[in-house]
Amino acid sequence: MAIISLANAKGGSGKTTAAVLLAAAYARKDKRVLVLDCDRFSSATDWCAKAGGKIDAISGISASNLAEHLRRNRGHYKHIIIDLSGASDMLIALASGLSDLVLVPVQGSVLDGQGAVHVFNIIEMVMQNTRCRVRRAVLLSRVNPLVTTRSLRKVQAMLDEKGISMLSTPIVERSAYRDMFEKGCLLDELDPAKTSNIDKAIANMTALLREVKTFIADDEDAQAPYSGICFGEERAEPLPVKRDPFRRYAAASLAPSLSMPRA
Ligand SMILES: Nc1ncnc2c1ncn2[C@@H]1O[C@H](COP(=O)(O)OP(=O)(O)OP(=O)(O)O)[C@@H](O)[C@H]1O
Ligand SMILES: [Mg+2]
Repeated sequence: MAIISLANAKGGSGKTTAAVLLAAAYARKDKRVLVLDCDRFSSATDWCAKAGGKIDAISGISASNLAEHLRRNRGHYKHIIIDLSGASDMLIALASGLSDLVLVPVQGSVLDGQGAVHVFNIIEMVMQNTRCRVRRAVLLSRVNPLVTTRSLRKVQAMLDEKGISMLSTPIVERSAYRDMFEKGCLLDELDPAKTSNIDKAIANMTALLREVKTFIADDEDAQAPYSGICFGEERAEPLPVKRDPFRRYAAASLAPSLSMPRA
């Protein structure tokens, strides 16, 4: 079981695309996956609903309900992916402290690089406060498969200088990823007559999954800093709503059961 967060303070860096692609790649291996969607536009949740219930999603995730959703669902899924699109610094800090891995998608632009540095600074603060390590890495996204652009080299140098680690497998720019989103399906359900290089897109995701797995396994010293607080008294409760492949689980449905800390 792994909790993986996708974060970058900069909009449009590829968080939702990476979250959905990772979820789809895990689902393809018959792993039960849940996406926790922090984006107010619920793009990942909409895609999951269109994809026919192969992947569950809960929208409306915020700092006040994230821990509760993780507690309730942890025992029911092999992997939980948190799309931190549009999340506040507080939510990024909380999610980072509860995740087994934080991936920071960066496209070849200095603005994305700066948004990534902001996330790494938040994680640094969490680590200093808790004296625990958070596994974290940049995930290059929308990379041109043929050339390394000058701006990408600039971003790589900038992140390198700050000692920020980076996965060696990028998410390549592929129309298959856009089409998968648009059509609400998995990569291998796309029509090869209409979408090119589906096999290359699938190979890209397989390689990414393999690296993510080793990245988590290789760094066993790292422990999600807030996991003890959040999961200390583990309660495997049933899913919040009866499983229905075509239903969008709304975070609001949990609201009445959230207990507020006592003063
Ligand atoms: N690897 C890729 N190949 C092709 N298109 C991509 C790829 N990655 C991202 N895109 C496109 O880039 C745009 C932004 O990506 P996405 O929505 O995933 O970013 P985001 O970080 O979630 O944005 P936001 O901060 O607004 O939530 C989308 O139109 C998406 O289809
Ligand atoms: Mg998004």
